[in-house]
Amino acid sequence: MYSLSEKPLISRQQIDERLESLAEEIRGEDFDIILSALTGGFIFTADLCRRIACPKLQIAFIKASSYGNGMESSGKVQISGLESLDIKGKAVLVIDDILDSGRTMLGIKEALLALEPSKVKTCVLLDKPARRAVNIEADYVGFSIGNEFVVGYGLDYANEFRTYPEIWTMRETYGQ
Ligand code: IMP
Ligand code: MG
Repeated sequence: MYSLSEKPLISRQQIDERLESLAEEIRGEDFDIILSALTGGFIFTADLCRRIACPKLQIAFIKASSYGNGMESSGKVQISGLESLDIKGKAVLVIDDILDSGRTMLGIKEALLALEPSKVKTCVLLDKPARRAVNIEADYVGFSIGNEFVVGYGLDYANEFRTYPEIWTMRETYGQ
């Protein structure tokens, strides 16, 4: 059982405004390729990259899975989709929905560095610093939030709620 907060934690307008300023910062860095982590990062990536609007910037998707169907990370990170990419010598920006324990982003970063890019930077819509279990910070963060489980704008609970346009807080409820 779960219940959503009464109001969104982060509104559409707040997301829109933050994306404008993030895009501005990122545009100045001249990345060659965005690597977007599916599935949670898909809406954030689409909205951000159209604001960056740089002709030579390429987009590719990888799949990083560490979550089961609950709220806790399994601790193991599986990454697929890197095999077919030409990363050597490229300036790469990795985009994901949220930095939680940090294991997913660290796993992606380590796998990428083995492919010898010229640089790797990371961007997340949301950061939960209180939950960090490994030593990693993102270079670009949309919003820093507390230790709460959130859904919407690409983020899911058991694959649901991804299509909500705002970020909502979700709590697991027991009993009854
Ligand atoms: P990490 O490896 O623990 O940093 O977890 C990163 C992944 O866990 C994210 O890419 C999300 O898919 C998922 N995740 C972590 N926290 C949340 C949350 O609050 N809501 C939905 N998904 C989350
Ligand atoms: Mg997820």
